[in-house]
Amino acid sequence: MRFEFAFHEHPGRPFVAQLPPHAFGPVDQDLIAALRTGLGRPFALVWHGPPGMIRVDIAEPGGVLTVDVPRKRLYVGQLYIFFAWLAGTTMLLLGLATLFLRNQVRGIKRLAGAAEAFGMGRDAGPIRPEGAAEIRRAGAAFNRMRDRVRRFLAQRTAMLAGVSHDLRTPLTRLRLALAMLPEELPDRAEMERDIEEMERLIRLYLEFARGEGEEQPVATDLSMLIGEVVAQGRRREAQGGARVVSDVDALPMVLLRPEGMRRVLSNLLDNAMRHARLVRIAAMRDGERAVRIVVDDDGPGIPADRRARMMRPFESGSAAGTGLGLAIALDIITAHGGELVLEDSPLGGLRARIGLPV
Ligand SMILES: Nc1ncnc2c1ncn2[C@@H]1O[C@H](COP(=O)(O)OP(=O)(O)OP(=O)(O)O)[C@@H](O)[C@H]1O
Ligand SMILES: [Mg+2]
Repeated sequence: MRFEFAFHEHPGRPFVAQLPPHAFGPVDQDLIAALRTGLGRPFALVWHGPPGMIRVDIAEPGGVLTVDVPRKRLYVGQLYIFFAWLAGTTMLLLGLATLFLRNQVRGIKRLAGAAEAFGMGRDAGPIRPEGAAEIRRAGAAFNRMRDRVRRFLAQRTAMLAGVSHDLRTPLTRLRLALAMLPEELPDRAEMERDIEEMERLIRLYLEFARGEGEEQPVATDLSMLIGEVVAQGRRREAQGGARVVSDVDALPMVLLRPEGMRRVLSNLLDNAMRHARLVRIAAMRDGERAVRIVVDDDGPGIPADRRARMMRPFESGSAAGTGLGLAIALDIITAHGGELVLEDSPLGGLRARIGLPV
């Protein structure tokens, strides 16, 4: 094995322990440390010795031993530096990439949050597009979609409200005119009933149109709201309606549109009371992030294959119904990001189950 070390003895030469000035790097320091432990005697490093060499002067008894070491033999140190560099740049790049990604992900997160909230009917305004070009494009697309949905909803409300309002005026006139006519007019009672029915329909259309109207979500005590609807049912029970029982747990405050939710519950209660002798309303927590409300009855129920159809607007099982009750309920619950499901009730009739995110 060739070390390529050149040894020279200089007997009688005095040892000079002084290290010439030099900019120390990690390699030099490693070298000095290694020599200090390895040699166990005084030494000096001469950096500007022969070209490509490092000279080590070692103090010997009665002289100096000079060793010339090729610089390139310091490979181990260079490898160490190489790895240090590699690790350093990797960390740096990792840091930069994390920073960059976090910026990008923030844009996506904001978009996801806005879409989720809008789906639940909580409109927090347009989002400010930021991040990479694609994310900005998705943001702009979301804003355009939001505008269109809002415009569409506003138009639907305005149109139905307009039509209903316009119909109401002649209807009121008709009712007044009818009241002026002599009592003994044939069919008068029927005509009055028809007018009443038309007024009821108009009121329902208006409610349908307002399903997702101007009402804004507020933190609501759902237990109390359900209690109020139950109390309404009890009043009808007292007038000879179906029996109404309730089992409502204490629920957390929920962000919702109270008028809309009241309409949902009274529509479901109304259906149940119309078809059954016993109605039960229950509400409970459903895990950490949801509440469940069920309206059970002991009536005939709806056959499973007709349930989906009955939830559509203007689908009614009876000639007297408008077929809007369930459609309105579904509309409002969906706008709250919840679900409305019709299923078999343990009481024997229909169960309407509402799941609401909290
Ligand atoms: N609890 C129930 N038990 C049995 N059938 C039901 C029940 N709820 C609803 N239905 C059936 O579903 C149909 C649709 O109900 P929906 O509430 O949408 O309209 P409607 O009650 O006919 O009219 P509206 O509620 O608009 O006055 C009803 O006509 C009825 O046939
Ligand atoms: Mg109904």
